[in-house]
Amino acid sequence: MDKTSLEGIAQAMVARGKGILAADESAPTIKRRFDSIGLESTEENRRTWRELLITAPGGGECLSGMILFDETLRQSTSDGVPFPQALERQGILPGIKVDTGAKDLAGHPGEKVTEGLDGLRERLAEYAGLGAKFAKWRAVITIGAHGRPSAACLHANAHALARYAALCQEAGVVPIVEPEVLMDGDHTIERCHEVTVRAQREMYAEMEAQGVHLPGTILKPSMVVSGKDCAEQAGVDEVAWRTVACLSDAVPASVPGVVFLSGGQSAALATAHLNAMNALSAELPWALSFSYGRALQDPALRTWAGKAENAGRAQALLAARERLNALACLGRYTDAMEEAA
Ligand code: 13P
Repeated sequence: MDKTSLEGIAQAMVARGKGILAADESAPTIKRRFDSIGLESTEENRRTWRELLITAPGGGECLSGMILFDETLRQSTSDGVPFPQALERQGILPGIKVDTGAKDLAGHPGEKVTEGLDGLRERLAEYAGLGAKFAKWRAVITIGAHGRPSAACLHANAHALARYAALCQEAGVVPIVEPEVLMDGDHTIERCHEVTVRAQREMYAEMEAQGVHLPGTILKPSMVVSGKDCAEQAGVDEVAWRTVACLSDAVPASVPGVVFLSGGQSAALATAHLNAMNALSAELPWALSFSYGRALQDPALRTWAGKAENAGRAQALLAARERLNALACLGRYTDAMEEAA
């Protein structure tokens, strides 16, 4: 393991005032996104959309990295530049989603375990050859009745995340570890807080057991929020302090950075939450930044609607969201900026 190189990549991924765009939707997920704008999910439509994201002006000022899907890592711009190189030219690190999805966990109805370890060593070697500098693996934790999540679900997912992380580091690729506690359900923010601490602690215990070098990793957590259907929705300040308190309880100081997922939050709320966390205190050991999918892409996707004549406006909207989130990394975003965006 080349620790110095891994640490350098991880530090670059959380460079001050920069974050990550997650554009790594699997085939079924991108189909759902395209369905919402009435567009067929063909390979060429997917390539066109990802080219729009990759070539949006100003990306290099706000983005440290972009996460791609297997198909996307192999695609090129319309004038023939492979996507990983198109990103590198702007100073944006190319990353790759390597898990093969969350599958039903045997014996635990309603719970999932993420798969993809089989053959991962060989796939990582190929991805590194294609230019990937970092990788992502997403575990999905559901809060629900009958004591969910079970200890078995937390353990199985933590173990898989740690084995994935160790394989990445062997290949010289920085692992983003993503234990996502879903917003689905009517649970309170207190319950989300408790489950998120357990999920993160379990994962770091497994990472230690597998010998993962933490300064060469990045954490991608969900924020601590009220369940989507909970009657009482916590405000921005409570989300911010609880999320930071949770990280303080569970995340070792040797982890260089934390990049949040948006998980179904609106674009503006995801930015406001990140800003409030960064405005809380300058004393935290990790950089707090973003690795949003929907909260960066959705406004642009709706404007694009699959039509070439809308591409410029869609790119401008994407660039505006990237800028607002870059400001939120510095605690310098205000709600009033939404109107101007
Ligand atoms: P969202 O921000 O849409 O949750 O996506 C981030 C991601 O990469 C989930 O794995």
